[in-house]
Amino acid sequence: MKRREFLLGSGAAAGAFGLGALGVAANMSELVVQPASYALRDTVTSGMVSLSPDAPPPVLYGKQGEVMHLPVRNALADYTAMHWHGLRIPNDMDGVPYLTQMPMAQGEVFPYTFTPPDAGTYWYHPHCMTMEQMAHGLTGVMVIAEAEDPGFDSEQVINLRDFRLDENDQFLPAFTRRGAARSGTFGNVHTANWQNQPVYDHAAGGLVRLRVVNTDTTRIYKLHLQHGAARVIAWDGHPVAVDIPVPSAADPMLVGPGQRVDFAVAMPQNEGKVVELMAKFPGQPHQAIARLRAVGASAGRELRELQPLPPNPVARPDLANAELHEFVFGWTPEGGAPDNGFCGSLGENFWSINRKPWPGDAAQGVGPLATLEQGKSYVLRLRNESPNLHPIHLHGLVFVPLKSNLRSLPPLLTDTMLLLKDEVVEIALVADNPGDWAFHCHVIEHQKTGLTGYIRVV
Ligand code: C2O
Ligand code: CU
Ligand code: CU
Repeated sequence: MKRREFLLGSGAAAGAFGLGALGVAANMSELVVQPASYALRDTVTSGMVSLSPDAPPPVLYGKQGEVMHLPVRNALADYTAMHWHGLRIPNDMDGVPYLTQMPMAQGEVFPYTFTPPDAGTYWYHPHCMTMEQMAHGLTGVMVIAEAEDPGFDSEQVINLRDFRLDENDQFLPAFTRRGAARSGTFGNVHTANWQNQPVYDHAAGGLVRLRVVNTDTTRIYKLHLQHGAARVIAWDGHPVAVDIPVPSAADPMLVGPGQRVDFAVAMPQNEGKVVELMAKFPGQPHQAIARLRAVGASAGRELRELQPLPPNPVARPDLANAELHEFVFGWTPEGGAPDNGFCGSLGENFWSINRKPWPGDAAQGVGPLATLEQGKSYVLRLRNESPNLHPIHLHGLVFVPLKSNLRSLPPLLTDTMLLLKDEVVEIALVADNPGDWAFHCHVIEHQKTGLTGYIRVV
């Protein structure tokens, strides 16, 4: 279906997905996007956005190869749409306003239904009013379990993000013009699962699967683990097939907005001992952002008992026959305001892909940045022409980095490639999921001020 036809046709569809669809979905619990209040610090912060009135967005659990029904209801006055980051699902479930569905008005329900083909750590967030709703809290983790139990004693999800609060613990504006035109506007309250340095109990001597997700709108985390034997077992959802050094204070791991890392952690043998997830914020020493505390008598397990996670069914690109496409990410000479329709604008364009700023989510007649043939292999050359870092995210497909002009990149399957200053990275993929797939920087201020486009697979 062409974009224009879709836009014409989808008004009726949006109506059909309205309240009337509820009966069909009666056995499934709705995810209700709604206003929330929560004490992130001392005082309750109001004006938050979550899926309950007083708690963070829950971890959503699914199983590889099993259908999930996730009807989303919009109980906000603003429009919304929900995106399932990293999942290779049908295009019409991808939650991108105007591109794959119409924005959801207040009271509307969209019956998201899909079967995740891959196990791993993923997440969800709105793709309409993205800046406001994400900055105010609506970023949650999705865990898709392997078809077979990989043998951990327990798991721990850590959703990392910052909030921008004033001295009364109320929201500051989500972005500044200066930030949007540079590396983004950083939050000043660091949280893990909306908590300040939470402590989680796990069996002493047990094996914990630690799933760390950066759902921040801006911050690139520098992470490492302290006081525990650990192994990196998955990156951006997918099991790692090569040895990745465990990050250390001297060599922390860069995890950009949208990215995930899974660790296997062997808990200390002695009750009360902790393993710390450490982060380095600019101008400050490394600090713990979450702790795992050993409890009970030692389970006596060891990392070497773990089998490698089974690989996800991702097709390997045929490099000998891959066609090359180039993408340049940089500032925009044009300026002008994007037309984001019902989905919120930051009012200006600072960024571009291939020197064209995205004209806006609701802009008409915008073609894809590239059209790929279904089933064929491609190499995409991603060139960062700016001094700022950009986590470049592609929906609906998984790719593998091949090479960089600045560093050696392990061949880890991913949906989000963090481009360093002046970096040129080649990635490869098989275009095996048809549709129009959003392709953008995951620093939301960049995404909403021009650094967005889409790739079509037909
Ligand atoms: Cu996680 Cu287009 O987004
Ligand atoms: Cu995504
Ligand atoms: Cu960016």
